[in-house]
Amino acid sequence: MKFLSDQGNTSAAVIGMGYVGSTVAAVLAGEGVDVVGIDVNPALISQLEQRSCWFSEPGLPELLYSGLDSGRLRVSTGYDLVSEVDVVVVAVGTPVVDKELVDVYLREACTELSRHLRKGQLVILKSTLPPGVSSNVVAPLLEGGGLKVGEDFGLAFCPERLSEGQALQELRTFPIAIGGWCPDSVAAAAEFWRQTIGTEIIPCTSMESAEMVKLASNWWIDHNIAMANELAKLCGELDVDVLEVIAAANTIRKGSGNVNILLPSVGVGGSCLTKDPWMVWKAGQDHDIDLDTIPVAREVNDSMPAYTVGLIVEELNRLGRPLQGAKVAVLGVSFKNNSGDLRATPALPVVARLQQGGADVAIFDPVADPGEVKRLFGLAPAETVAEALSGADCVAVLARHDKLADVDLVASRDSVAQSCVIVDGRAYYSRETIDRFRRHGFAYRGIGR
Ligand SMILES: NC(=O)c1ccc[n+]([C@@H]2O[C@H](COP(=O)([O-])OP(=O)(O)OC[C@H]3O[C@@H](n4cnc5c(N)ncnc54)[C@H](O)[C@@H]3O)[C@@H](O)[C@H]2O)c1
Repeated sequence: MKFLSDQGNTSAAVIGMGYVGSTVAAVLAGEGVDVVGIDVNPALISQLEQRSCWFSEPGLPELLYSGLDSGRLRVSTGYDLVSEVDVVVVAVGTPVVDKELVDVYLREACTELSRHLRKGQLVILKSTLPPGVSSNVVAPLLEGGGLKVGEDFGLAFCPERLSEGQALQELRTFPIAIGGWCPDSVAAAAEFWRQTIGTEIIPCTSMESAEMVKLASNWWIDHNIAMANELAKLCGELDVDVLEVIAAANTIRKGSGNVNILLPSVGVGGSCLTKDPWMVWKAGQDHDIDLDTIPVAREVNDSMPAYTVGLIVEELNRLGRPLQGAKVAVLGVSFKNNSGDLRATPALPVVARLQQGGADVAIFDPVADPGEVKRLFGLAPAETVAEALSGADCVAVLARHDKLADVDLVASRDSVAQSCVIVDGRAYYSRETIDRFRRHGFAYRGIGR
């Protein structure tokens, strides 16, 4: 094989030790690979060195610390150790602002990397990129150091599809799509993943194809959720339980699989679904194609926090209570169930709208970091769920954490207001539980329920 010649004892550098890079670095080190984790953020590197990182991903801090303790994982703010490794994985952030890719981190990382690349190395891109960026932006920047891609070093794009809450398990088990600059790059990347994580490989015929794999996947998810959200809005009006409809619809076969409608919710957040569809949309614009489903789905999903606040106001008014002066206990504020990740969380616009309407909002989240919650929401979270619930006119469940499963709202009946509404932003409760709430004098509203 042209690249990755030093088989059997592969070493790797991971550029960008954020959420994705740290997960990849920790898993590789856990599989016995010597890993150098590089990040330009000195605070992050120093936190890792002191074994106190902020990642709320289950199992990730422990795996990182065990890699660091064993010496399998080293971390640095500089690129000097890059020349020692066989494979360089790039996982820097690729945000989208005003529907445009912000490629400054990618460009800086590739420019610095080009100064440290040596012959025989393989560069694997994990950052999510619009189609063509690996070939037209990354490759020329890497060649800036004097080496030729495909001749002196290999280049492959392997989209990362892990999601918060189960990232370690997903990284260890999900098939890996690989698009390469050349067949040798694909072969080297496939060999690297086989030797290390050992998952199934899906070869793609080009880097553009692999770039589109990730984007198509997130486009589909965002679009599917938008459909579920609109279905929920209608079901709510028809007094039909949207979960019953989705569960039954999902038993219907379509081709070799089933219909798979996802769940409606208070909104879509996180760093991928809110931006990746815009990368595709922009690629369409660049090729004079209007990809109309993308803005529509984004708009529908972005409308859900306001819709949820509308449900809260409607139910409070039905109970004779204006939003002004009402206490709303918000349980779970991260963008996703069982994750402490607050990036682009829909709970933020919900809380802001409630406060603008004069509500007294109390937050409780047993998973998210309290300091991060306070920084983002400008509101110190309650230390206990009892504190948040005390005197609440409304309990809004906005993230369905397993750690909230023990919270028995019926047992807290005496501590909340006499007329109290439960607003279920995550399709949390079963029909039996909803009936139990109603028997104990709670009003209940869910998204589409
Ligand atoms: N769930 C997810 O978050 C997810 C899933 C799949 C793919 N992705 C994609 O993976 C990429 C990384 O996402 P993330 O969530 O880890 O982002 P992140 O913001 O958590 O981490 C990016 C890191 O890159 C570092 N960085 C920036 N410039 C650098 C440079 N020149 N050299 C070294 N380090 C540099 C930053 O300091 C930061 O720590 C993005 O393209 C994202 O779209 C994310």
